[in-house]
Amino acid sequence: MQSASPRQAYDLVILGGGSGGYACALRAAELGLTVALVERDLLGGTCLHRGCIPTKALLHTAEVADAARESHRFGVRATLKSIDMAAVHAYKDGVVGRLHKGLQGLVGAAGIELVSGTGTLRSATEVEVEGRVLSGRHIVLATGSFARSLPDLPIGGRIVTSDEALTLSEVPDRVVVLGGGVIGVEFASIFASLGSAVTVLEALPRLVAGEDEDVSTQLHRAFRKRGITTRTGVSLQSAEQDGEGVTITLEPDEQLRADVLLVAVGRGPRTEGLGFAEAGVAMERGFVSTDARLRTSLPGVYAVGDIVPGLQLAHRGFAQGVFVAEEIAGLEPAVVQEEGIPRVTYSDPEIASVGLTQAQAQERYGAASSSYTYNLAGNGKSQILGTAGFVKLVRVDDGPVVGVHMVGSRVSEQVGEAQLIVNWEALPEDVAAHVHAHPTQNEALGEAHLALAGKPLHAHG
Ligand code: NAI
Repeated sequence: MQSASPRQAYDLVILGGGSGGYACALRAAELGLTVALVERDLLGGTCLHRGCIPTKALLHTAEVADAARESHRFGVRATLKSIDMAAVHAYKDGVVGRLHKGLQGLVGAAGIELVSGTGTLRSATEVEVEGRVLSGRHIVLATGSFARSLPDLPIGGRIVTSDEALTLSEVPDRVVVLGGGVIGVEFASIFASLGSAVTVLEALPRLVAGEDEDVSTQLHRAFRKRGITTRTGVSLQSAEQDGEGVTITLEPDEQLRADVLLVAVGRGPRTEGLGFAEAGVAMERGFVSTDARLRTSLPGVYAVGDIVPGLQLAHRGFAQGVFVAEEIAGLEPAVVQEEGIPRVTYSDPEIASVGLTQAQAQERYGAASSSYTYNLAGNGKSQILGTAGFVKLVRVDDGPVVGVHMVGSRVSEQVGEAQLIVNWEALPEDVAAHVHAHPTQNEALGEAHLALAGKPLHAHG
């Protein structure tokens, strides 16, 4: 994609073509800035090639497998014969490939110069890419993250991270997942649907520990029902692999056997060896330190996405990338508020939330906050789908809704309205005044607000 006579000086040089970097590039180009986008691997980054998109494709395959397996519940006599992993990968890779092609087209059409290679920050205005120096009035660091492991747990063979788990050629009989955060829970859900016996090991007392406590309780219940074993408060001693499998030893001395051990203990910032610290960028535990306007300690150099401490989510990266482009163009955009960013875990059941958990609201507002939980059992569409779950609202008393927490099949689709409610600081009465279509799962959100506004319909007051 590199042009024949590359320009050497740009308004903006962006290091990393993932969600944060390419969003920044597209918006900057739209605003008339000249942009070089440096990418050493594939445009689209982790989200498109190893994260959001391929994992959600696998989760869709998982959903189809479950639908076939459970078809008798709905009066359909289908049987699930087998999972053809080669065909699964062809489907998943087809989705990724089409999106990748589309993105390349967008970037090309925007006049962005895509520079292939590993870039190193040389100064506040220079990035070196394999001997070629690109100078920019501004530089944006957007190098993303990698799947971490533990010090004594080398990745390889049967011990994998989410990267390798995306390309397994067979469905393993037994999978142990280390880490019950978002990645651990999504993959546990995938493998269970594909037919593996799954055990999740989590050091903390509950799965998805960043979510509201009731969400974790509901997920534990749903996983138990699905036959997924969850072990919390456990401490890994070691993991040894041989030709047949992996032996996982827990403290004090308990052993588990698995065909595959998936390590999902978090993602680390990809900042080492890229010249950041050497060029004078202030760092903290490997992350790039920024102020609220995403400025690093080096004038003119910004950072976006997973290398900036906070939620490691693609849509946060997009938003930060767009913010920085507008900032550089002098539009004085509003700061991206971390608390208003919606969070979704695409397991079965799904989890979708935005804003404060009940515990966080209590910490901030003390006794002046309360919550209301609407059970999906009272929601017609959820009954039709056969899903259990809830919509939980957290509010400031006599004030706005500050948190929405949902569990159940397909609740991810409700997070759009939920985030408007929280970010526009809506009162329950504001939302209750709007009509929600029947029968939809979206109605559950409306009903929860009706109840909070003191006029419950299909709910017990
Ligand atoms: P995470 O930080 O969400 O969860 C890691 C979990 O591993 C934590 O619960 C932690 O307590 C546990 N853990 C750490 N060391 C352990 C040990 N030695 N033994 C047992 N448990 C241990 O990280 P995760 O799930 O790897 O995801 C990384 C990032 O990617 C997250 O920030 C996540 O939000 C993001 N992501 C988002 C997705 C989405 O939005 N749907 C999908 C996948 C990832």
